[in-house]
Amino acid sequence: MLKKLLVAAVILSSVVLVILTIDSVSKLTSSSPKITPEVTRGKQVWQDKNCINCHTILGNGAYYAPDLTKVATRRDRDWLISFLSDPSRVWPGTSMQAVKVTPQDATDLAEFLTWVSGMDTNGWPPKPLKATSTNSNTQKTDSNQGGQNLIAKGEGIYGEQGCSACHEVNGIGGKVGPSLSTIGKNRDKVWLNKFLTNPQEVKPGTPMLKPRISQDDLTALVEYLGNLK
Ligand code: HEC
Ligand code: HEC
Repeated sequence: MLKKLLVAAVILSSVVLVILTIDSVSKLTSSSPKITPEVTRGKQVWQDKNCINCHTILGNGAYYAPDLTKVATRRDRDWLISFLSDPSRVWPGTSMQAVKVTPQDATDLAEFLTWVSGMDTNGWPPKPLKATSTNSNTQKTDSNQGGQNLIAKGEGIYGEQGCSACHEVNGIGGKVGPSLSTIGKNRDKVWLNKFLTNPQEVKPGTPMLKPRISQDDLTALVEYLGNLK
């Protein structure tokens, strides 16, 4: 009896191994998009122009500006080319200064960024704020369910808006702006609402941009921040 069980176990695990191997191999072959000469040149331009002084890609670079590993899933090729040629024309009020690039550079950079975005990075980069969803700070102050939902929604919006590129909450995020770990202690919701509606009006000259979000999303974001204590 024991012997039969053992044999069955060995057969079963061999089958599982074979299936896993086939699965990995098929992923390996499908995860490398084709490297064209434009992609190679784009990588060269990426290096020459020091984009990583501000951006990260595949874990390398600085945290001043958004991670670009998956940028082509948010932005199409034409948008990227126009943006790189003249950032503020495509994105009024953007905090990215124009980098001197030729039209060919811009096209090659777009090809390179699109190529990188096509790589199977196994979920990299991690969503910066997932870790804070177990954050006890956001849970203790508001015990009613509706409030909790709004806070959770606000936390999601904080992540989507890329606030963590510049701000840190409980150790996660950038250092360009002040830490927001206890922002709810220092600023009330009325102030937060006013500031996020128009940062420039509240703090003239602040480098912080007005988030482009709906009124509902803003309310949720304020609820989330106001409860970080
Ligand atoms: C001095 C810092 C700096 C440098 C250098 C820089 N960027 Fe940026 N970049 C930014 C900032 C900040 C943003 C975010 C813009 C905003 O939020 O208004 C940005 C945004 C972008 C975006 C849009 C990201 C998105 O999520 O929509 C792309 C694409 C981009 N940069 C590509 C590049 C490339 C390619 C280079 C090199 C040629 C480069 N950047 C150099 C600061 C920089
Ligand atoms: C490009 C970097 C950058 C991004 C992205 C950014 N911020 Fe800021 N933020 C700053 C800087 C810098 C300050 C400090 C402004 C000042 O004091 O003039 C600031 C200030 C703030 C303050 C006020 C802090 C205080 O007590 O005075 C809040 C609240 C805030 N940011 C929330 C957010 C939220 C929410 C997001 C996402 C929607 C966000 N920020 C995105 C750079 C950024």
